Amino acid sequence: APVRTSARYRRQVNDTPTPELFSWEFATDPYPAYGWLREHAPVHRTELPSGVEAWLVTRYADARQALADARLSKNPEHHAGDAQGRAKTGIPGERSAGLMTHLLNIDPPDHTRLRRLVSKAFTPRRTALFAPRVQELADSLIDAFAEKGEADLIHEFAFPLPIYAICDLLGVPREDQDDFRDWAGMMIRHGGGPRGGVARSVKKIRAYLSELIHKKRADPGDDLISDLIRASDHGEHLTENEAAAMAFVILFAGFETTINLIGNSAHAFFRDPVQRTVFQDAVERGDGSLIDSAVEELLRFDGPVEIATWRYATEGLEIGGQPIRKGDPVLVVLAAADRDPERFRSPDTLDLTRRDNQHLGYGHGIHYCLGAPLARLEGRTALETLFRRLPDLRLSVDPADLRWRGGLIMRGLRTLPVEFTP
Ligand code: HEM
Repeated sequence: APVRTSARYRRQVNDTPTPELFSWEFATDPYPAYGWLREHAPVHRTELPSGVEAWLVTRYADARQALADARLSKNPEHHAGDAQGRAKTGIPGERSAGLMTHLLNIDPPDHTRLRRLVSKAFTPRRTALFAPRVQELADSLIDAFAEKGEADLIHEFAFPLPIYAICDLLGVPREDQDDFRDWAGMMIRHGGGPRGGVARSVKKIRAYLSELIHKKRADPGDDLISDLIRASDHGEHLTENEAAAMAFVILFAGFETTINLIGNSAHAFFRDPVQRTVFQDAVERGDGSLIDSAVEELLRFDGPVEIATWRYATEGLEIGGQPIRKGDPVLVVLAAADRDPERFRSPDTLDLTRRDNQHLGYGHGIHYCLGAPLARLEGRTALETLFRRLPDLRLSVDPADLRWRGGLIMRGLRTLPVEFTP
């Protein structure tokens, strides 16, 4: 591939009007703008709505390489800072709540140690045990609105399902789960809005998790937090702070992502009746392998994580021929990479039978999604149950009236109003 010099890059970008990024129209359908960047400015420096400047990486090959590049750190201390010298942190509210020491903010060797510890607790056995619980959750949530003939799929289905699942995984007692649901809801309702609301809910979650860790230490159960404490008692070190941050990152990473997987997938089916029929036929004949490949394709086509979490250059380096300075933030645009025509045939087409579908929806490298098996289980169970029980499910509003959340990292709908024959 030809190596672009910066001068050529600048000329190329300045000669053509750059699409407006992060506007309202962009949030509705970012794919054309990403396509333009991939072609004309594949490693593109932009000012984000927050005022911070960052590089956007949009080609599949560059994205995959950047995700696994050890010179790109996850630790916000490596950010050179914005014009006012403020470093960018990862998750809103985490710094003031003292929850910074988690997997998405750290590098090896700390990352290696913590990831090994949590992998021991987050076993395939634990995920497999979850299948009946996720099924029961999906059914009981549908039961609650099935008589009405209408629902908001985000608030009544996609939102509660993962929060209860994560509560069970962590070992949050059933009687506390509705409080947890409210705080987590506040955390995302305010996402992109006033920071105060997020910070307050993150602090509540932090206080609750500290108390829970304390209780589990005295009275362990068969849950992830107890396993983390047990593992740390066997010589591997996990501080109380690290345990709380671990529980928090699992909540943060596993919650809104799963909401979006369910919401974006249902939305994709409403827009593509042919593929929807392919899916419903597979559900009817119990074709598990097609259902699995469908969930992977839905992740590639319109996945929950639009942009991977922040990375910072620890030294001067090049991505796709573009020089990046030490301290610069690098954002890998998974949504753009996963529609790269150099990697995927007819990338803008949803094809549930697609083979050779090595998408980057779960990331790549050492930060590859820890919860991918659980996410697959939740996504498959939710979609299968929904379209089996409500076969004539349809949008009850004009698609043009749907609103997407405005955040930088995640891509998902605010609401998804539907109707069906009760
Ligand atoms: C990391 C996607 C569900 C836990 C990641 C990353 C992506 C991702 C792209 C890497 C971020 C980066 O490198 O910047 C997704 C998607 C999901 C999903 C698309 C749903 C469909 C879950 C669930 C859990 C989870 C259900 C846990 C219950 C994590 C954790 C990390 C992570 C802990 C950090 C891993 C590390 O840094 O070592 N996920 N995720 N995710 N995910 Fe997921």
